[in-house]
Amino acid sequence: MSVKRFGVSLEEELLDRLDRLVKDNQFPNRSQAIRFLIKQNEVEDLWKGDMEVAGALVLMYNHHKRDIQKQMTSIQHDYHCLILSSQHIHLDHDMCLETITVKGKAGKLLKLTDKLKAIKGIQHGELVMSSTH
Ligand code: NI
Repeated sequence: MSVKRFGVSLEEELLDRLDRLVKDNQFPNRSQAIRFLIKQNEVEDLWKGDMEVAGALVLMYNHHKRDIQKQMTSIQHDYHCLILSSQHIHLDHDMCLETITVKGKAGKLLKLTDKLKAIKGIQHGELVMSSTH
């Protein structure tokens, strides 16, 4: 893919924020930061447009928390049409890392993510998704 150059005019404050983004994400340069922002915006469009997407939902939790696995299973059964596979790793005595591979309308995947994240005891949950074409 050919790369085109263009000039950008920014207020000093915005340029500082861009440079902070470069530093925080260890991007090699500002161009990479702008690519990142454009891509991030595309993902937001996927949500807004409720497009068909595929992705992975990553959840971290302590399996000793009351009823957590029962709830996890119950919600996943409610959304079985969206779930392609899931992987459960026992990280240590307490913690579990679950990765659920999903495909479907962005809005539905987001709803599934919200429901799983809302389970009491889930320490972290995040959905990464991308268009399928
Ligand atoms: Ni486990």
